[in-house]
Amino acid sequence: MKINFIGHSCFTIEEEDYSLIIDPFISGNPAAKVKVDDLKPTHILVSHAHGDHLGDAVELAKKTKVKVYTTNELGGELRDEGVDAVSGHIGGKVKTEFGSIKYFQAFHGSGLSGGFACGFIIDMGGKKIYHAGDTGLTKDMELLADENIDVAMLPIGDFYTMGPEDAGKAVKMIKPKYVIPMHYNTFPPIKQDPGAFANSVKQMTQIKPIVLNPGETFEL
Ligand code: NI
Ligand code: MN
Repeated sequence: MKINFIGHSCFTIEEEDYSLIIDPFISGNPAAKVKVDDLKPTHILVSHAHGDHLGDAVELAKKTKVKVYTTNELGGELRDEGVDAVSGHIGGKVKTEFGSIKYFQAFHGSGLSGGFACGFIIDMGGKKIYHAGDTGLTKDMELLADENIDVAMLPIGDFYTMGPEDAGKAVKMIKPKYVIPMHYNTFPPIKQDPGAFANSVKQMTQIKPIVLNPGETFEL
């Protein structure tokens, strides 16, 4: 499995014939080094409708004709724009060609009136990835320990989401094998030192922090 960090909260995950893209914020993303046209996802996942997550999802979905996995309220809006959206919702698991996507609660606005933001638990080729979306720290994350998460992608930017200290608490609750920080340094209010976060995770736990620069890949 190849996990590529595009920047901010956008990742691609490739395994066999499948290529997922999560929160495809690319054209407006100062950190992104790729172009929307370079991407050929088989599945698009969008955690909520804020611009730094919804990003280029509509253009990408129309171009590639692949499905967008998101919560119901945003799914409805996307369908109105001619996009094929799979509207699961919090707590629900949706079967996919590669395995499944489970929608997990995120403490954050949806970016629409009504609805919820979410995170995703992606089961792909026997590996489990948790992408938290935008969220504050919540004790619900303790529930993720039972999911046997291989890789957790957690926001550390503070201001809009958890900061490094709370993300450290989240890591202890989730107990993944690896943690990848995200949602930092894209904009001035979320400036953080991912190396300091990584060091504190190493000091507190046996969990391996993986800090990726935009464009870098982690192979699992
Ligand atoms: Ni947001
Ligand atoms: Mn955000």
